[in-house]
Amino acid sequence: MRVVSGMRPTGRLHLGNLHGALTKWVELQTTAECFFFVADWHALTTNYADPSNIQSDQREMVVDWLSAGLDPKRCTIFVQSQVPAHAELFLLLGMLTPNPWLERVPSFKEQQQELQDRELNTYGFLGYPLLQTADIILYRATHVPVGQDQLAHLELTREVARRFNHLYGPLFPEPEPLLTKVPKVWGTDGRKMSKSYNNSIWMGEAESSTRQKIMEATTDPARKRRQDPGEPTKCGIYYLHQLYSSAERIQEVEAGCRSAGIGCVDCKKWLLEKLLPAQAELESRRADVLREPDVIDDVLAEGSARAREVADATMEEARRAMKLTGPVPSSPESPLVKELE
Ligand code: TRP
Ligand code: SF4
Repeated sequence: MRVVSGMRPTGRLHLGNLHGALTKWVELQTTAECFFFVADWHALTTNYADPSNIQSDQREMVVDWLSAGLDPKRCTIFVQSQVPAHAELFLLLGMLTPNPWLERVPSFKEQQQELQDRELNTYGFLGYPLLQTADIILYRATHVPVGQDQLAHLELTREVARRFNHLYGPLFPEPEPLLTKVPKVWGTDGRKMSKSYNNSIWMGEAESSTRQKIMEATTDPARKRRQDPGEPTKCGIYYLHQLYSSAERIQEVEAGCRSAGIGCVDCKKWLLEKLLPAQAELESRRADVLREPDVIDDVLAEGSARAREVADATMEEARRAMKLTGPVPSSPESPLVKELE
């Protein structure tokens, strides 16, 4: 089983990133051969006009990867732009990918709608899922851990791999999605936790600010007063309990919330009993990582070198399959052959 996954460099990661993707990566590194990378070229597809934060965002994110437990001895951690083969394969795949396949990927139109302040009628943005395809098949991945939102991209990956294999001979496995149940993580305002909503609790955030954010967080709006019953599934605090608290505690929350037997303040204090020590643990591992900042550069340099080796081996075969290298077929009509006769 070979796994590839990437994240765009977004800076510090929040609890949604941790429980949505990163914990899964940390698990996978013990059972599969894993390649995890910073998708910095992907960041440029939407942020090309202001790339000033890419470097620092990349670093912050990798610090969080390491503090979550990604171990460079167990997996290859690298930077996409340090492995030029991603670009070469992207170019070659561009030759055989019909435009409508890219235009119909749902995220294409959706994101253009969402980010209307930017000019996203660009070639790079249209090609986003094809670059992602190259990222994946370059390592001949068999499995890709992704969320629901990335399934269409993986479907394209499979179609493009199939088309390549059909045209030039079998080279790429069709990777399967590893669809893990992504837990709901809501931000402090009751919307999905997202950096752009300004509602995040950061991985390893300090005790005082974690506490303050939780105590001020939105709960079920039906519980205006202490005696109003609530519905836990309409409350982000409940979903955090599901990630941090024991099964008994979760039952107490469900019953107490619905009967107004507990107040939201009690409920939040119960959560903090578990959340704060987990945050402290992450904070201390983060400090360990930051104590030796050179190690971060070494991890990325060594990981990128290792990724280049694997990628270059695939590219040799891809070039040969597409007749860009290999023996020149001799034809009996060629003047050189005639001369020799
Ligand atoms: N598109 C992915 C995201 O936004 C990031 C990504 C880029 C990726 N290349 C990938 C994920 C390859 C998995 C495999 O989350
Ligand atoms: Fe949310 Fe807990 Fe309040 Fe219910 S009691 S609304 S689950 S904080």
